[in-house]
Amino acid sequence: MSSTDTNNNDLQKIPQHIAIIMDGNGRWAQQRGKTRVAGHKSGVESVRSSVTTARKRGVKALTLFAFSSENWLRPEKEVSVLMDLFMFVLTREVKRLHKNDIKFQVIGDINRFSGKLQKKIADAESLTENNTGMVLSVAANYGGRWDITQAAKSIAIKVKEQTLDIEDINENMLNQHTSLANLPELDMLIRTGGDYRISNFLLWQAAYAELYFTDILWPDFNEEQFNIAIDSFDQRERRFGLTGEQVEKK
Ligand code: IPE
Ligand code: IPE
Ligand code: MG
Repeated sequence: MSSTDTNNNDLQKIPQHIAIIMDGNGRWAQQRGKTRVAGHKSGVESVRSSVTTARKRGVKALTLFAFSSENWLRPEKEVSVLMDLFMFVLTREVKRLHKNDIKFQVIGDINRFSGKLQKKIADAESLTENNTGMVLSVAANYGGRWDITQAAKSIAIKVKEQTLDIEDINENMLNQHTSLANLPELDMLIRTGGDYRISNFLLWQAAYAELYFTDILWPDFNEEQFNIAIDSFDQRERRFGLTGEQVEKK
């Protein structure tokens, strides 16, 4: 196998598609006697640096978990600050993304966001639509179960409208209806903040992703930390169900 799932520059395997659960903002702030909101603000710098680092390292797709479908249950004030921050960052950063040939997209059920924010998102997506350097996907009001459910729903509609045969439903076709279907397979899923769980992130897409957990809190996840994570991918033997010997032969 001429590693189709990797980008073979300098013989080091670079994950083509990385997703990150950016966790630990609240604890980072609390450790400093600050409000949780201050932690989210500091987290923005890590978002910036991770986008730059991914682009620099030749990663083709970076997917960031910014707001889960469950995060609406947080205190109202925190939710509203997160929305404002999202709006602010989008406004400030979209030109830079475009300049760096990065295509921006949001995954998740954005209908629940304000009209103003939805418009911002749509504008950013259309401005950067034809960029090919890297795809930055931000998961907002996203849940892995939601994703699979909405895929099932779109398929059901096609069956009902008789544009699709039940016999033609298979994994590949369901995959095409999930978010991120336009991207390479997810190679690596990183979670900062010390917890070992997926928290309803990319349930379908993470089937064979390499998992990477670190205790570093998101605002402290800098270029050096991200490079350590990227470099660790090269040490992983991905077997996809085969034996180690079979993989070596390929
Ligand atoms: C992650 O940090 C950011 C969001 C969920 C928006 P948290 O806010 O979950 O930080 P902790 O986990 O409470 O430290
Ligand atoms: C996951 O973090 C969601 C995001 C990073 C956006 P949470 O802090 O919401 O996850 P749990 O609640 O610890 O599982
Ligand atoms: Mg958290």
